[in-house]
Amino acid sequence: MYNTNKSYFSKSLLHWYDSNKRDLPWRKTNDLYKIWLSEVMLQQTRVDTVVPYYLQWVEKYKSIRSVAKADYQKLLKLWEGLGYYSRCKNFHKACIITANDYDGEIPSDYLKFRALPGVGDYIAAAVFSIGLKQTYPAIDGNVKRVMARVLRIKNITKRNKKRIRNTLIKWMDPERPGDINQALMDLANRICRVDHAHCSICPIDEICMAEKMSIPESYPAKVKKKVTPHKEIVAGIIWQGEKFLITKRPENALLGGLWELPGGEIESSETPIGALRRQIKEECDIDINIGKKVGYVKHAYSHFKITQTLFQCQTQESVKSMNKEYRWITPIEVNNYPFPKSNHKLFNILNSDGWNV
Ligand code: ADE
Repeated sequence: MYNTNKSYFSKSLLHWYDSNKRDLPWRKTNDLYKIWLSEVMLQQTRVDTVVPYYLQWVEKYKSIRSVAKADYQKLLKLWEGLGYYSRCKNFHKACIITANDYDGEIPSDYLKFRALPGVGDYIAAAVFSIGLKQTYPAIDGNVKRVMARVLRIKNITKRNKKRIRNTLIKWMDPERPGDINQALMDLANRICRVDHAHCSICPIDEICMAEKMSIPESYPAKVKKKVTPHKEIVAGIIWQGEKFLITKRPENALLGGLWELPGGEIESSETPIGALRRQIKEECDIDINIGKKVGYVKHAYSHFKITQTLFQCQTQESVKSMNKEYRWITPIEVNNYPFPKSNHKLFNILNSDGWNV
């Protein structure tokens, strides 16, 4: 029926996509700003997690200019819980540049868009293919897996990445490049999964070289994950009357711009209490009385895991020197500031056991 791999690939994939595509809010718009935002949120994050964040954001911020004008802390509060906060920082910066230099519209030149903060090959290709119907393959880890199977590629080397890109450019229907990209994403999510390829229901099985092998899932070879380091962190809820202390993480650090309960890493020779006393003295130049242990929480970041233990503390002193922003807040005011997930887990313990006991 199809005379080339190109026509089979595009026709069969699009035919499948037309009746199986996921119903997602960013697929109902032609607004480049919204398509761009969705792709930024979707990088490293699952679709189901992104949907409510995307809907809330576009309800509040309707254009690039509105993001450019927004207070960054307000944006971070909307992003709170989505993780990889540098994406939010870069998106804000990129919107400011777009508002100032490009009249609030995404630059029509691919390389100019690609040069904005946080816009890499993947985001630029996704936005230009979905929003402007330009023939750029958007190749994330999932699309790489599908194409590695189609081409029977064992190792994702630089040369093989080029092969995947060139093959997609050659095979993509130039009328519907955005749909081809999104069809591959849906195929990766629904059919060509990491541990089970489901070849019997795959729309492009006929040209898939891994499908002809005994174990299609063995393509591409799994890269051995490095062991993730584990950090022991201690924090204090330091009360003065009805209020406790929070500090703001530096903008360019991990979790930059988020607020937190002060504390830090426990060094190998320290007890948690000793480490907490030292950290608070170093950071805030105050002495604290450390009381009852509230509990501990675990959290995994991309490159390490933490266990964070919280202690009730008291102080009579005011902060003498601090090279970070800080505030004294009441428990209800937690809602006004963006905090990392681990702090929210600690707040949950306090919410059920009592804040100041
Ligand atoms: N992952 C990244 N971009 C996506 C999109 N546009 N649709 C579904 N999943 C995605």
